[in-house]
Amino acid sequence: AAAAGGCPVSPRASAFDPFGAEYQADPPAAVRWSRDEEPVFYSPSLGYWVVTRYDDVKAVFRDNITFSPSIALEKITPVSAEATATLERYGYAMNRTLVNEDEPEHMPRRRLLMDPFTPQRLVHHEPMVRRLAREYVDRFVDAGKADLVDEMLWEVPLTVALHFLGVPEEDMATLRKYSIAHTVNTWGRPSPEEQVTVAENVGKFWQYAGTVLDKLRKDPSGHGWIPYSIRAQREHPEVITDSYLHSIMMAGIVAAHETTANAAANAIKLLLENREVWEEICADPGLIPHAVEECLRHSGSVAAWRRLVTRDTTVGGVPVPRGAKLLIVNSSANRDERHFDNADEVDIRRDNATDHLTFGYGSHQCMGKNLARMELQVFLEELTRRLPHLELVPDQEFTYVPNTSFRGPEHLWVQWDPAANPERADP
Ligand code: HEM
Repeated sequence: AAAAGGCPVSPRASAFDPFGAEYQADPPAAVRWSRDEEPVFYSPSLGYWVVTRYDDVKAVFRDNITFSPSIALEKITPVSAEATATLERYGYAMNRTLVNEDEPEHMPRRRLLMDPFTPQRLVHHEPMVRRLAREYVDRFVDAGKADLVDEMLWEVPLTVALHFLGVPEEDMATLRKYSIAHTVNTWGRPSPEEQVTVAENVGKFWQYAGTVLDKLRKDPSGHGWIPYSIRAQREHPEVITDSYLHSIMMAGIVAAHETTANAAANAIKLLLENREVWEEICADPGLIPHAVEECLRHSGSVAAWRRLVTRDTTVGGVPVPRGAKLLIVNSSANRDERHFDNADEVDIRRDNATDHLTFGYGSHQCMGKNLARMELQVFLEELTRRLPHLELVPDQEFTYVPNTSFRGPEHLWVQWDPAANPERADP
């Protein structure tokens, strides 16, 4: 075995490849050996310590001083000089946002910006989410076959995010165009050419986000997180700076979009693979909130997250040095038998499903979690009501963008008999 920082690396640890087929197909299954035998290990190929058990992952999330979130959005593959130059040309200056900010700066900002995410405020957005979900289902409900990702699940959460942020309608189309997948660029192994293409889009996205922000500044009286943040800036200019507003204008869209699109695709796939559960929620839609939570636990869309160790410490009894980088595999924690009985099974009546760590935990826990939950509930309500006889197209191969963290099938083909649509019988 090789040695890293004086720690022996087991053969399995040195073979660990989060870009390989096994991890892509099922991250928690790919690290089951680790949960059972070596719950904290160093991966030489990645240069990260990997943490896979529930208690350890939660302990790392809980202490954001020892385990700094500053590397959460760092490119896991070093950026090429050409891509860096491209970003510079656009004056790209994405700063720390909330998710990768250390204390003492983080908490005062989080508190000031939280109100639009509270359940009372989110009630206001539900009719918009439902209207969008219905419009998209209308388009394919009589077709008998659809790729739910391409025809609904990619676009609806993006549009919801733009509404939530308060982007003016006339700017949505342009922002939608730039909201390309950031997954491979942040958490994957992009080729140098891919890096430059993404950098072009990121640069344009950044500039356009600035234009929209300037427009909103002229009249920040409207609904939405960004107008709200502009108003908060007037009271606390030292906490909410200009560059900060520009950064959250762009990062907010990314945070809300791909995570939710992937979570929805994972959930529908999982429920259709467990037909009896799908039929149960069709018969009793009151179970949908539980089903959403169990899907987020079993097949969440954020498979792993990152932290930087700021002082010599231990994780699960294993010494890790200051400066070490951690890959905390929250999807593995969510399938840890030590915390969840029959963890691989889908059980919508499980009493501790909400203990899952798909939204992280502690002071950085996802601010958008209730918006995401509401979207997933509305999608399931609309699909189970209008297409209860939906089924997966058999024998399709599901593909995933190779990366450590964002997870959802690129396509989700479903089929049904349109003549059997309930709305034909009961218009
Ligand atoms: C943070 C997951 C949807 C906004 C996070 C974190 C995770 C996450 C893992 C980091 C947590 C930590 O470090 O402890 C998800 C998943 C989603 C989702 C799985 C969908 C199923 C959303 C949506 C929004 C959003 C819809 C916004 C509208 C944020 C923000 C943070 C965050 C602002 C930073 C919070 C902070 O650092 O204080 N999310 N997210 N997320 N998320 Fe989400």
